[in-house]
Amino acid sequence: MKAWKLTPGGGIEGLILLDLPEPVAGPGEVLIRVRSTSLNYRDLLMTRRNRHPIIPLSDGAGDVVAVGSGVAAFAPGDRVTSCFFKSWTDGEGTPEDTSESFGGNRLDGMLAELVALPESAVIHMPPHMNYDEAATLPCAALTAWNAMYVQARLTPGQSVLLLGTGGVSIAGLQLAAIGGVRSIITSSSDAKLERARALGADHTINYHEREDWERAALDATGGRGVDAVLEVGGAATYPKSMAATRFGGMVTLIGALAHEGGDPGTAPMLGRGLKAARIFVGSRRQFQDMNRALTLRKVHPVVDRAFSMDEAAEAFRCLESQAHFGKIVIRV
Ligand SMILES: NC(=O)c1ccc[n+]([C@@H]2O[C@H](COP(=O)([O-])OP(=O)(O)OC[C@H]3O[C@@H](n4cnc5c(N)ncnc54)[C@H](OP(=O)(O)O)[C@@H]3O)[C@@H](O)[C@H]2O)c1
Repeated sequence: MKAWKLTPGGGIEGLILLDLPEPVAGPGEVLIRVRSTSLNYRDLLMTRRNRHPIIPLSDGAGDVVAVGSGVAAFAPGDRVTSCFFKSWTDGEGTPEDTSESFGGNRLDGMLAELVALPESAVIHMPPHMNYDEAATLPCAALTAWNAMYVQARLTPGQSVLLLGTGGVSIAGLQLAAIGGVRSIITSSSDAKLERARALGADHTINYHEREDWERAALDATGGRGVDAVLEVGGAATYPKSMAATRFGGMVTLIGALAHEGGDPGTAPMLGRGLKAARIFVGSRRQFQDMNRALTLRKVHPVVDRAFSMDEAAEAFRCLESQAHFGKIVIRV
């Protein structure tokens, strides 16, 4: 079978397409014919930093072709996606639950024609989605769901601030729309903001034109501040995210897209009684909860571009360029 592997420290140039032996479904495992995979910012980091020559990507969707002994919940023909973590099925998530994720460290990921996953790391696709759409869910969308509806417990009429128009933020925008949550989204591009408005964004801010975007976010909430921020920027955006948040609101700590800047400091958190929650994607149970909501409202995740298996390196370069809106997929 065809599969891509990364070369430790090799970056995108180090990705190589190989012909590998086909895996089989062992006891408790599900063998999946992968149809589509999606890229996350993390996967770029893995091409540079991972120490083992693994198959990359945490996210994939496809068809079950065989099941091992003891597997009861899946049968050949089922349309499924991978989970991000190998064994975080439910609960708050222990260090053990979150120690192994697909496409990281020693654990092979989804950029292969066939993969054998433990039953506990497989979930049925929302029936209304195609493979490309379902492949966007395991990391970015679940992260946004966990931040908004599990940690920040947003309710209809509350507000969320979304930074940029990458995978996590656009999933957050779509999840805000179905939850009746007011969305305020930033971008470096007016064209992307126009697309965000078409998806239902209530308020848009160009963060290149408005360096004081936190002020614009405050204005959008009548000076009160947002109820929650999906903080994907890190050190360079964190102080402004805190400033844009209401008294007692929540900053969910997700990513580090913007590295420049020093220690953001915690003074505003203390002074304004803010809460922070470190997000680590989410559990299989949360994934099921999210899929129920997406299925009810027939949400179609935003796939910006689809590449072929042979074009995988090009797909990674596209993600790196940050020209995308939402998600990039590779069809296997
Ligand atoms: N903790 C977790 O569980 C978890 C899960 C998923 C992702 N993450 C992290 O979350 C971050 C986002 O991941 P992703 O996959 O959504 O990334 P992505 O799709 O690659 O996001 C890229 C977009 O981010 C925006 N951006 C970049 N720098 C920005 C800045 N200074 N201010 C505002 N927006 C900025 C840009 O949007 P515009 O082009 O519109 O300006 C860019 O197109 C990454 O750091 C990732 O590692 C963490």
